[in-house]
Amino acid sequence: MTETMNSATPTTVNPTAVGARAGEHPDVSRSLMARYHRLMGPVAWRQVIGGIGIGVLSGIFSGLALLFLLPASVALATGRNSWGLGFGGWLIVLAVLAVAAAVGDYFSQRIGMTGALGFQHDVHYAIGDQVARVPLSWFTADSAGVMSRAVSREMMSLSESAAHFLNSLSTTVAGCVVIWLGSWVWDWRLGLLLTCSAPLLAVFLRVSRRLIDRGKAVSEPAERELAARIVEFARCQGALRSCHAGTDYRQLADAFDVVARTSRRGLWWETAGNLVNGVLVQIIIVAMITLSAALAVSGALEPLQAVVTIGICLRFTTMLDAIGTTTAGIEERRQMMNHLDAVMDVPPLPEPDAAAGESEPGAVELDDVHFAYRAGTPVLRGVNMHVPAHSMCAIVGPSGSGKTTIARLVARFWDVDAGTVRVGGTDVRDMPVSQLMGQISMVFQDVYLFDDTLEANIRIGNLGADAARVRWAADLAGVTEIVDRLPDGWDTRVGEGGQALSGGERQRVSIARALLKQAPIVLLDEATSALDAENEAHIVSAMQELRRNSTLIVIAHKLETIAAADQVVVLGADGRVAQHGTHADLVDAPGPYQDFWNYRSRAAGWRLV
Ligand SMILES: Nc1ncnc2c1ncn2[C@@H]1O[C@H](COP(=O)(O)OP(=O)(O)O)[C@@H](O)[C@H]1O
Ligand SMILES: [Mg+2]
Repeated sequence: MTETMNSATPTTVNPTAVGARAGEHPDVSRSLMARYHRLMGPVAWRQVIGGIGIGVLSGIFSGLALLFLLPASVALATGRNSWGLGFGGWLIVLAVLAVAAAVGDYFSQRIGMTGALGFQHDVHYAIGDQVARVPLSWFTADSAGVMSRAVSREMMSLSESAAHFLNSLSTTVAGCVVIWLGSWVWDWRLGLLLTCSAPLLAVFLRVSRRLIDRGKAVSEPAERELAARIVEFARCQGALRSCHAGTDYRQLADAFDVVARTSRRGLWWETAGNLVNGVLVQIIIVAMITLSAALAVSGALEPLQAVVTIGICLRFTTMLDAIGTTTAGIEERRQMMNHLDAVMDVPPLPEPDAAAGESEPGAVELDDVHFAYRAGTPVLRGVNMHVPAHSMCAIVGPSGSGKTTIARLVARFWDVDAGTVRVGGTDVRDMPVSQLMGQISMVFQDVYLFDDTLEANIRIGNLGADAARVRWAADLAGVTEIVDRLPDGWDTRVGEGGQALSGGERQRVSIARALLKQAPIVLLDEATSALDAENEAHIVSAMQELRRNSTLIVIAHKLETIAAADQVVVLGADGRVAQHGTHADLVDAPGPYQDFWNYRSRAAGWRLV
């Protein structure tokens, strides 16, 4: 994924932005151009800069074309040469400049547009690279929301600004500068007039912008809240209807009320802002016209020249106005850039470049591991366990005791707070993520399937596997039976996240992946929800197969699985290991394991003999 990226390396990550939360302003001091640059590959960046450069040229041409109306009008009025050319000569110059400006504009837009498409492409890669580097713990519902907004809606707006806003800003600014300088050369009074108008207009635009922003700040939070509530309302229909609240959902109604109130207040501010803008720009224009007319009446300006002067003043103010609007557009994009930066600034998971040696291939060890998702609420406290290669370890314990957490730490989704997790005898932090992932297969409870065919979803386990091997894994994990039931067989798409399948079926697909991958270590979180008899049979046979080649760590709920394990680790509710040993040892000793076993055996209708 690093093909085109030159600058999205961790070295560009600003240390002050480390830890920035999604949606916050990560680093406002970094210039917008620098922020564009780091998201773009060299080709697209050159195109954007090229578009801006040609835009500047085109602006200079159109500025000159406007400016040269002054000598042309004098030549026309007096019939004499002005600035060395007669009226005919000036007409030719004006025509050439107009054509040059139009051609420049065309190429500037075109190159800028290509650059913008390149920007979209590069940002996807930059974000993709970044997503592959950040710690998995970063992916919460919140961050996923920020990211999906960033790569869809906001990125489109940003690329539009890269193509359009930056180009037209450079063209207009160049044109303005040419007219402004030229006006001083032509007549100091015109120069003075234009010079005074610029800061005045800038102040008015700023005031107007502030008012509009204030209006947005008033209404936007409520609108975001409403959007979130609407999504929630749709997602939770099942739950809402089951408690007879299908249509009557207080939170949504409240959010609507708040939006109605805040939008009204916001609208007042925005209207005031637009008024300031419109009225004051008009006042400046009228002042300019009055001044030029007064000069003409007093005889200081030729009438024709006065008309041209008024024209130039009008055009100049419109250009300044356009600069204001474009700058505001770019400012708005800056907020979106903050969201992209919030993703790009997440410090990547530290990992070494070189593969680490393994002193004990296939083994897993937790050495005095302490861990908390949130500071102050420890989940694991001093957990020790050692799973030798090719053995099977069952982890049992009450719900919420940290069983899944142990599996996540082995896969380094999170880093431990204290202690060490070793895979193959090596600290997981000392090996590249790819090396660690190459050794582990995970079958978790919340299996996510890609919106693709069943076959493709299994093949992810081992992209190089031949068809026969895929079928073998599918047979063993019980996926073949699912296939037989589906309308398009192997070619049935499973829907986003695998919605077309039940939880148990999804877990079977995930087991088939693991069988295909044949990793030395398999982490299996037995799904309680998927414990129907049919699933059980498949999981048992798949587990037997996995056991032949791999070390198995199973978060076990089924009594057969637990009894079949070489060792059982019993986690207590306090996040410590309460007991550990073989089933035979533990079941005879009074303690939590015996209680658990007796309770579960009775519940399952088993009798211990
Ligand atoms: N992503 C998370 N963020 C914060 N807390 C979490 C997260 N995942 C789990 N927890 C909390 O950590 C504790 C252990 O969770 P878990 O390992 O899933 O337990 P188990 O698998 O034994 O039921 C629980 O109190 C749970 O609420
Ligand atoms: Mg769990």
